[in-house]
This record gives sequence, C-alpha cells and structure tokens, in this order.
Amino acid sequence: MILIVDFGSQYNQLIARRVREARVYCRIAPPAISISEVRDMAPEGIILSGGPASIYEKNSPRADPAILELGIPVLGICYGMQFMIDALGGVVKAAGRREYGFADLRVARPEGIFAGIRGETACWMSHGDSVTETPAGFEVTATTANTPVAAIADNDRRLHGLQFHPEVAHTVRGKQMLKNFLFEICGCKRSWTMKSFAREAVAHIRDTVGDRKVILGLSGGVDSSVTALLIHQAIGRNLTCIFVDNGLLRKNEAAQMRERFGRHLDVNIRYVRAGGRFLGELKGVTDPERKRKIIGRVFMEVFEAEAKKITDATFLAQGTLYPDVIESVSAFGGPTAVIKSHHNVGGLPKKMKLKLIEPLRELFKDEVRRLGKQIGLPESLIWRQPFPGPGLAIRILGEVTAKRLAILREADAVLLEEIRQSGYYRKLWQSFAVLVPVKSVGVMGDQRTYEHIIAVRAVNSVDAMTADWARLPHKLLARISNRIINEVRGVNRVVYDISSKPPSTIEWE
Ligand code: XMP
Repeated sequence: MILIVDFGSQYNQLIARRVREARVYCRIAPPAISISEVRDMAPEGIILSGGPASIYEKNSPRADPAILELGIPVLGICYGMQFMIDALGGVVKAAGRREYGFADLRVARPEGIFAGIRGETACWMSHGDSVTETPAGFEVTATTANTPVAAIADNDRRLHGLQFHPEVAHTVRGKQMLKNFLFEICGCKRSWTMKSFAREAVAHIRDTVGDRKVILGLSGGVDSSVTALLIHQAIGRNLTCIFVDNGLLRKNEAAQMRERFGRHLDVNIRYVRAGGRFLGELKGVTDPERKRKIIGRVFMEVFEAEAKKITDATFLAQGTLYPDVIESVSAFGGPTAVIKSHHNVGGLPKKMKLKLIEPLRELFKDEVRRLGKQIGLPESLIWRQPFPGPGLAIRILGEVTAKRLAILREADAVLLEEIRQSGYYRKLWQSFAVLVPVKSVGVMGDQRTYEHIIAVRAVNSVDAMTADWARLPHKLLARISNRIINEVRGVNRVVYDISSKPPSTIEWE
C-alpha cells in the first residue's frame, strides 16, 4: 500500500490513478495525519504531493517531519519535495525564474527513480519556488536549464524528491519514474486487481453488516447498480433497494430495472410508483431551479417514507466514488474526508440514524465499471450514459405535463435506438432529446401542421465539466430526424444542438 499525503495539488487524483494503474493499492490522507496512524497503515511507501502554498509562508501545510524518519521510502513531488528539504534543514526560496510548462530534464545517472532513463527527457514543471540548498546526505540527480535542483535523492534514507510532476502525461517518462519508486525503491507487488478488490469488499461488507439490514436507493446508474450488486453478494436479502419511479424516467426504464434487478439478479427491490405525486407538485412550474428543488424534495419525502417502513434497517448504502472523497479532503489538515453526499439522499442517514456504507469509496469511475463486470452486472447496466436525477423534467422546457412527457419519451426512445444501432452509444458521453414546447409550421401529407420542436443533444466529454457537441454523421442525423417526425405525434421539426460547454451546459435546464 502507498500512502499519498495531500498538500492540495490539482494533480493529486492523478497520482492516485497512476499508482492504481500500476496495480498497487493507495490511499490519500491530509497532512495532519498522525505518525501512529501512518504506522497503523503500514504503507510500503509514502508520496508527498504537490500543493499551491510556499513552504516558507507562515501557514503553509506541513506534515509531522517524523514521517521522514520511519524508514519508509518517501517521494516528495514539487511542494512535497520542498517540505522534505525544509524539514531536513535545506533551503527553499522563491525562484528567480518561475517555471511553468515543459522543460528538458537532464538525468545524472539511470538509477533509482531514473532507472532505465538516460540523458534528456521532457518533464512538466509548475513551480514558483526552488531548492537552493540541499540538506546533508542528498545528491542532485537531475537538473533543467532553470532549475539546478530538479531531482534529489538520499539513497541511504530512501528519500527522493522531484521538482516536476511525474504524474502528468506531459512528463514523458513519468510513469516509469513512478513505477521505479513503487517497485524498485518500495518493493511493492502488483497485487491490486478487481478480483481481489471484489473479494475483499464482499468480505468487508459481511463483517461490517453482520446480520443487520441495509437500505439503498437504486437509481439505475452505474454507481448505485454496482453498489447494489456488491452488497447483495455479501448479504443477500438483507439488502433492500428502493427504486423510486418519479414518472420522469425514459421509456421502459422502470420496468427494465425491476426485471433486471428483481428477476435476473434476485435483488430485493421495492418499487415505489410516485409519478402522479411528482407531476402534481410540478404543475404550473416553469422555472428550472424550482423544478429541480421540487423534484429533490419530493424524492426525499418519498424515499424516506419508504425507508421508514424497513424498521430494522441499520445502514444506508451509497455509491460514493473516490473523486467525491478526494474533493472533500481538506489539504490543510481540516476534518478528514468529509463526504460529499449523494445529491438525493444526503440528509437521510442523520435523520434516520442510519450508518453509511460506501463500498466504492476507493474507486474511480472506470474502475467501478470494471468492478461491475467482475461481479457479473449486465453490460447494459455498466455502459449507461449519465442520466440526471430530475430526469426528463429538465429536458422539457417550461411546464412538465403528462402529454409533454409522452412526446419527449417517444422521441428520446427513437433517438437512443438509432444511436445504439449506429454503434455511437458508448462513444458518446450523453445523447438525448429535448422537448422545446414552441410550435412551428410544417407540412405533412399536403396538410399544414403546427407542432412542437425536438432538439437532439449529443456530446463528447471526459468528466462533464467541459463538453463538445458530437460531430455525428449526417446520415445518422437524417435518420433520427426522419423517424422522430414520422413516428412521434406532436413533433414536426427536429434541430441539432451545436453548442459546447461552456458556455452552454449539457442539459438544457
Ligand atoms: P450540465 O447540464 O450542468 O450537466 O452540463 C453536467 C452533467 O451532470 C448531469 N446532471 C445531473 N445529474 N442530478 C444528476 O444526477 C442532477 O440534478 C443533474 N443535473 C445535471 C448531466 O446529465 C451531465 O451529465
């Protein structure tokens, strides 16, 4: 296991990723972690991350310097290296020249962190401070034109430092450097696999839960589906999944969820039909934010009422992922890992005195997909495009009515069928229809029509923070348009959304 001490760098998730990719388990902790906690974790190596602060500032984040004296190999990256230097009596100063971007790294010898790496190689720098004096015992192992101390090592104490960022792709041999640290210096084994993770997770859930009961809100998304199946494999019928049909789902979605989970996977599932209630509360509401708030509140009420019926439940399970956990870990030694709760059931555990279990807390999204595959979740559930909690309601501009929902649902079903058939479904981040309840004139069979507009939205994205509209083939767009206009009553015009995010968003509301 590798411990990553988080000094607040934007690249920390990437360090964790790289370690995991090398099939070594890792955990991230704030600098305030105590030496006894580190000892209990017994890591094979410690990585001190980068961070935005300057070590010579008064309130800069610091770890207990004793972390450098445990006999455990340490790799300091950027600020992490500067902390190490400062703690051991060296000097760090504001650099005469700041260095951001590519730099040519000149490696002294192909050894240690640089085993297998000779001569010059591109690295990625992002620092305003530099080491001007190294503490006794260290030698400089690499330099760049602007940074005379670009890498250091004290082989006796097994302490290493890199001024640049080996975790970012721009550092061409960065992966090799991290691997050298993990395998050559720390002696880690490549033992982190999905199979071992699944086995340990199931055993851990069994140990934690015993014969008590667990509730889980099943949404149909990958995270809650994998969570459900994993817990089901651990405790069987003692898990109850609550599936709220808010009436804002896509065509056949609710039925498919019941069928897949209830019948094929034999998961204990409670289906709550609440479409009428949601629609009633949304009547006359046109403001997007009000819609979202109403849907969030009603969901909570419906979920809570159902959850209360399971009187002997002790746990609430959630599909929180690692990025959510990391985002909420304070870099400056604040409270450890305040969890960013699921947007829908956030307040529930406290209110109902339930304990949280989050078996995916340590995984990234693609790892969750691999885990799903490992434990036998059907492909159709693993490879689902994201679907927002408020569902179709935020894809109908203006008031949500039963009639409008029916139109959108049909149009969306046609669109998805075509996208699936064309092989684009997995390639796109999201693809869906939006109902623009504005009427325009058309002509069908010599008759004048006056009907609604469907907008087609298809985007590529890696994390939903930014997105670009997908350049779908014209032939495919033509077929989608043709079929929607022919098959969906109430629509006589289809348009394609060619806006990127930012400045637009993915959803229309
Ligand atoms: P926007 O529209 O902000 O969406 O570009 C970014 C991503 O988030 C999804 N989304 C939601 N997901 N509850 C969710 O679970 C919501 O209220 C919600 N709103 C937007 C959206 O589909 C896209 O993937």
